[in-house]
Amino acid sequence: MDVVIERLGPDAVVRLARPLAELLEDAVDSGASIGFLPPLASGEADAYWSTVLPALRDGSRVLVVARGAGGALLGTAQLDLCTRPNGRHRAEVVKVIVHTKARRRGIGRALMLALEDEARRRGRSTLVLDTRRGDPAERLYAAVGYTLAGVIPAYARSAGGALEPSAFYYKLLEGGTT
Ligand SMILES: CC(C)(COP(=O)(O)OP(=O)(O)OC[C@H]1O[C@@H](n2cnc3c(N)ncnc32)[C@H](O)[C@@H]1OP(=O)(O)O)[C@@H](O)C(=O)NCCC(=O)NCCS
Repeated sequence: MDVVIERLGPDAVVRLARPLAELLEDAVDSGASIGFLPPLASGEADAYWSTVLPALRDGSRVLVVARGAGGALLGTAQLDLCTRPNGRHRAEVVKVIVHTKARRRGIGRALMLALEDEARRRGRSTLVLDTRRGDPAERLYAAVGYTLAGVIPAYARSAGGALEPSAFYYKLLEGGTT
């Protein structure tokens, strides 16, 4: 795979704000359920990446990207490290996105495995995530070893206005204390 996975710090995220926003826009416009409803208002995607910066600066968020030929951004994913005293072994996987033109080439899998490495390095052994029930993302999460904890109905609103179920998954990393 001619793709490199890199961790980005806050300065790089500021520099790459537009291509990161384009990744989010591509996902939302193609129907992904990742916290936003289409059509995104002008500047909404850019504004989202600004909200991530404080957490990247204080170390409670880890962001990885997949770069293809010429450094093009093909995908991204984040780890939200729990900061509560009883949850410092835990992290949530959020905003796993691969550009529509680069899907089914193993990039989503590579991003998920990179987040696991980042989690292990920080002593985070319980990983959790959720996604819309029935989305392709569920196949990815199962393929990299996540277990379905359950499904909550009427969890997230769809572009059409209906309330849809979300599936909640977890993975316990080996060598953890859980
Ligand atoms: C989910 C997503 C990140 C997958 O990225 P990807 O790079 O296409 O995934 P990969 O190529 O690494 O797939 C790895 C495995 O996951 C499964 N998988 C991924 N996409 C699939 C699909 N559309 N249909 C069936 N299985 C799929 C397969 O088992 C696949 O292995 P295989 O190709 O050897 O069969 C991508 O579809 C995406 O960005 N979706 C929109 C955003 C989103 O919904 N994110 C998740 C919620 S936060």
